[in-house]
Amino acid sequence: MIVEATIAGIRRRLGGRRPVALVPTMGALHEGHGALMDAARRDGGICVVSIFVNPIQFDRPDDYAKYTIDLSRDKAFCEAHGMDAIFAPAPEEMYPQPPATFVEVSGISEHLCGRFRPGHFRGVATVVAKLFQITGPDRAYFGEKDAQQLAVIERMVADLNMPVAIVPVPTVREPDGLALSSRNRRLAPEQRRVAPALYRALEAAKRQLEQGTSDPRVAVQAAEAVLASVPEFRVEYLEIACAASMAPVERIDGPVRIAAAAWLGDVRLIDNVLFTP
Ligand code: PAJ
Repeated sequence: MIVEATIAGIRRRLGGRRPVALVPTMGALHEGHGALMDAARRDGGICVVSIFVNPIQFDRPDDYAKYTIDLSRDKAFCEAHGMDAIFAPAPEEMYPQPPATFVEVSGISEHLCGRFRPGHFRGVATVVAKLFQITGPDRAYFGEKDAQQLAVIERMVADLNMPVAIVPVPTVREPDGLALSSRNRRLAPEQRRVAPALYRALEAAKRQLEQGTSDPRVAVQAAEAVLASVPEFRVEYLEIACAASMAPVERIDGPVRIAAAAWLGDVRLIDNVLFTP
């Protein structure tokens, strides 16, 4: 297993070897990341995991400060999932000077999380574009857990003709439905106990749509009723959005994401489910 901290180093290691599969992460790896790695391994090629806590995508300094990673633990995790290399640069390696160039994916980035996290998707798109420039992947793997991020990256790749195939991977959940997330370990036991209500709420909305409700507001109300039973939750948004554009829909006439963000204490959870009529 190769671990490279420099751009020149990873480029030298990969130089000419093809195909390259990239799994971009911020470390603190869990089985959600593991599913991305397994998909990459299954598809073949040289599998590279990037581990980089990207400062320019954090809208809150405290969230960035609390985002700690343990590289030796993450390295063992990548090894167990059959990865070939890790690219783990320091912030100064990725940003030797404050960047003046950003990738801005308008529209998609402005809905849902984008309304509450100014600059977040600009930071994500910019770092992913840099990681693509650095590692030159043929394929890159992203989780549907972050459906809006996935849509932003797909649009960036299409608009900028980046020669990389984006492979979506379904959300990995705990047995009680909670989507795996690095932030889950910051939940207190009582918060962890009630956290699966977020997924249950999305499923309640989905059931409404499956039963033929065409008015998204009716489905949203069903989800809100589930969340209202958990007073600890502070809901940031709960919306039904077009799966491609992420814009809110008035009627269900194509694939939609039922998506929510909610706080438990100072931990922000997001989740979504897909509904195709
Ligand atoms: P991070 O939160 O570490 O997630 C890395 C990848 O793992 C993302 O594609 C995310 O969608 C996926 N993932 C996380 N939890 C998952 C789960 N429960 N099931 C399936 N996939 C899951 O997302 C980021 O990092 C960053 O924004 C990044 C893309 C690396 C850019 O900095």
